[in-house]
Amino acid sequence: MAKRKHSKTSTDGKQPKASLPASYPWYLANKAVAAKADLDVLDKFSGKVATRVPLVGAAEVRKAIVAAHKARDAMAAFPPDARRDVLEHCVRRFRERHDELALSLCIEAGKPIKDARGEVDRLIDTFRIAAGEATRPPGDVMNLELSPRTRGYRGMVKRVPVGVCSFITPFNFPLNLVAHKVAPAIAAGCPFVLKPALKTPVGALIIGEVLAETDLPKGAFSVLNCSNEDAAILVEDERIALLSFTGSLLGWDLKSRAGRKKVTLELGGNAACIVDADPGADLDHVVDRLVFGAYYQSGQSCISVQRILVHTSLYPALRKQLKQKVAELRMGDPRDEKTFIGPVIDEDAARRIESWVTAAERKGAKRLAGGKRKGNLLPAMLLEKVPRDSDLYRKEAFGPVAMLEPFDDFDQAIDRVNDSDFGLQAGVFTASLAHAMRAWDRLDVGGVVVGDVPSFRVDNMPYGGVKLSGLGREGVRHAIEDMTEPRLLVVKT
Ligand code: SIN
Repeated sequence: MAKRKHSKTSTDGKQPKASLPASYPWYLANKAVAAKADLDVLDKFSGKVATRVPLVGAAEVRKAIVAAHKARDAMAAFPPDARRDVLEHCVRRFRERHDELALSLCIEAGKPIKDARGEVDRLIDTFRIAAGEATRPPGDVMNLELSPRTRGYRGMVKRVPVGVCSFITPFNFPLNLVAHKVAPAIAAGCPFVLKPALKTPVGALIIGEVLAETDLPKGAFSVLNCSNEDAAILVEDERIALLSFTGSLLGWDLKSRAGRKKVTLELGGNAACIVDADPGADLDHVVDRLVFGAYYQSGQSCISVQRILVHTSLYPALRKQLKQKVAELRMGDPRDEKTFIGPVIDEDAARRIESWVTAAERKGAKRLAGGKRKGNLLPAMLLEKVPRDSDLYRKEAFGPVAMLEPFDDFDQAIDRVNDSDFGLQAGVFTASLAHAMRAWDRLDVGGVVVGDVPSFRVDNMPYGGVKLSGLGREGVRHAIEDMTEPRLLVVKT
């Protein structure tokens, strides 16, 4: 059973405070360590220091790995029902701390409060799904009697945990993208060391706090913030069996340094959405979904809509409606219920996106919506005639910017979507079953969403990409598969 200790920063039974605690501890081998908090975490809207967290060094990273390595057998032997109980405890505690968790996202990531609440709901879903999987370890019974030589033999396959996992997570979903690594690891029986993004470490530390309330075997988890140089240990140490990284294209470099360990990478994309001649839905609805897909949490999602391909017959009407709706999006304080566009993660990111837009405009792109940048606040931007060799077209913008492009023929639209170094998800609005099937057959991506934008994810779906977008799939069951390996038993009777 999970232990029920109450945390110091918990807000049980009270309204959450409108600010974060002054500092957070880090977690080594399941225990909070109240070290000097020397890393400032900024409120991404005000730019002020919101809280501080400890930044540990190489020695602490190694201690966490040693502890996890020692915990391998205990974690593997930790019974499935006990793993489920730990995960269910997390579900309960996240429900109780819902408002506080949403506020932490709003502050540390600048995520508009409605999106922040949605992410907490998904955090709960991800742990719930993992709780269900924990007592359902996949297995197989095989018929080995394929010839007279093998008569009387039976095969059975179970999956065993791979051992220590290291997790490196990004800033854009500080809770749920941590959950997508942590919850399957617990269900699979793997100890882990987690390093969240330095700009948004709070979500992961609260997850650590909740896990510290449980009776996971000693050493089962550590949550630490360290420099990128020290994080190299999490990539290179041979005691680690699996590295799971979500973030930028840097992931490919990490893979080349990871030695024999398994590696899973989720590295983003420049997602496209096709709007067919008959989109199978009212144009109003299609436009609403495109606005959501392109601009939710300021486009800082790996599956946010960047390229919109519209059949020429619909182009003028869709362009007009979209332009108007984008211009109406309210930008400002993410704590305000009415805010749709909050800040991007920092001013460097805002300047980079702005410079890509300006460079595309110099090469002939036309801006249909979008105003001036104020620090890290970038208004929602919509462009057309963006040259296909520009950074804005080819790279991942990861900001509130989308571009429109007409097409005449559905296969041409598919070719355009595939004209990308990335391949995470694509969306298709079409009334034609044949077109939907063709898109599924031909789009070179990890997932095709028909009837909606590519920015759709449910946390049990296989999620991941091809080409530069990554390697492997997340989605709880799929991550558990990576965190375990098959062990065969052959019995001769
Ligand atoms: C991501 O940005 O990779 C995650 C998107 C999501 O979970 O919705």
